[in-house]
Amino acid sequence: MKDRDTAPGQGWFITVEGPDGAGKTLVAERVAGALEARGFDVVQTREPGGTSVGERVRRIVLDHAPGDAPHDPRTDALLFSAGRAQLVAEIIRPALARGALVLGARHVDSTLAYQGYGGGLAQATLRELQEFATGGLHPDLTVLLDVPVEIGLARKQADEQTRFEATFDLDFHRRVRAGYLALAAAEPGRFRVIDATEPVEEVVTATIAAILARIGTGTEPRQPALRIQP
Ligand code: TYD
Repeated sequence: MKDRDTAPGQGWFITVEGPDGAGKTLVAERVAGALEARGFDVVQTREPGGTSVGERVRRIVLDHAPGDAPHDPRTDALLFSAGRAQLVAEIIRPALARGALVLGARHVDSTLAYQGYGGGLAQATLRELQEFATGGLHPDLTVLLDVPVEIGLARKQADEQTRFEATFDLDFHRRVRAGYLALAAAEPGRFRVIDATEPVEEVVTATIAAILARIGTGTEPRQPALRIQP
């Protein structure tokens, strides 16, 4: 496995990714709760959003205003990446610097999967943009919650639908899912793929196991992300 990309002595950056309706939000919340109960200092983030500026970007990028022409995928790539840059600078880096475990629902792989494989933008260009937006921060572990497109989309209620579920066709979502699986296959050291059609408790247990396996096998001498007990 590749050495960690965050500086030694820092916390851990774990991301949860997957197609729409994979259950990322619910799983991330339960995993964060379980890790906190074990004494970890956990910081949860979500994208798009997670900061005051980022939540405003979220509205621009996810709302479907009746007069809007379809977004150019470049517009989306830049907007998502702008929100991400602020999140990394304002929340993620300071949390890692104090030794926390940052659990992010979506991060760079969402842009590679949706705007790249889904929207047709070149992976190399998007990767450069991600290096710029994050200042070269890479997750230590990415848990991919994999779900067939039809099952994932059927889980979302009409009132929970963003522009992505409401206006992109099934083929777009199929490319996104296949793209995620290709990203995972290309970087087996960073990714763990979990079958998200299983009951949520099993998905949560598998995600916690993947995280503990990753942070337990680090070469760092220090105990990571443990909250100092009063
Ligand atoms: P959201 O309601 O947060 O979905 P989820 O709960 O599944 O994470 O909506 C996020 C939508 O934005 C989702 O359809 C994926 C899309 N997206 C991108 O296209 N690119 C990105 O970089 C990110 C972060 C999200």
